[in-house]
Amino acid sequence: MIIKNAEYLMSNEDFTKCPDDDLNEIAFIGRSNVGKSSLINMLTNNKGLAKISSSPGKTQKINHFVINKQWYLVDLPGYGYAKVPKTLREKFIKMINSYILKRKNLVCLFVLIDSRIPAQKIDIDYMYWLGSNSVPFCIVFTKADKTGTGKLKENIDNYKTVLSETWETLPEIFITSSVSGNGKEELLDYIGNILKTT
Ligand code: GTP
Ligand code: MG
Repeated sequence: MIIKNAEYLMSNEDFTKCPDDDLNEIAFIGRSNVGKSSLINMLTNNKGLAKISSSPGKTQKINHFVINKQWYLVDLPGYGYAKVPKTLREKFIKMINSYILKRKNLVCLFVLIDSRIPAQKIDIDYMYWLGSNSVPFCIVFTKADKTGTGKLKENIDNYKTVLSETWETLPEIFITSSVSGNGKEELLDYIGNILKTT
């Protein structure tokens, strides 16, 4: 899959106000600051497309980007970052959970995980919540440029072990860096195949 064209379309707080058409969409979810917006910019070769920040809580709405005039990439607010005020965290989680459960256009959800740290309860709990609501997802490890090979393997194995306690089949796993571009082709090829089969 090659991205030739990527344009910002709109931002909403309510999934019912998202584009009213039947284009497929792919969304990124994960803790605030994990690198969701950076990944969108990396995949689309456009550093200024999605707004990024070193402070967590930058993305506050459901943001639609039209890709190749054919499908949407969706940037969502993050969940559960202690430095984001509680009221805002609660608002974000309501917004993203109703989007995930009710948005008909959504064909694949990617859960982003910081590759630098071992399995975190908040991320595991979020994946369980997705599983208990029958929402299929893939896992994308981010910031691989900041993680040594040994540590990266250790942290990924840690997730696999924890997830294997509940799931017979593990989700598809990608390793990425928005700085080096690592994982870009694999992720875009996977997305391309999903879009072909839907
Ligand atoms: P919210 O919008 O707050 O939920 O965060 P987000 O998940 O969209 O994270 P964002 O893309 O804004 O990135 C957060 C910080 O991490 C920024 O300072 C980015 O430059 C940095 N960052 C993101 N991806 C990478 C990466 O792959 N490698 C490195 N080294 N830094 C990254
Ligand atoms: Mg963001």
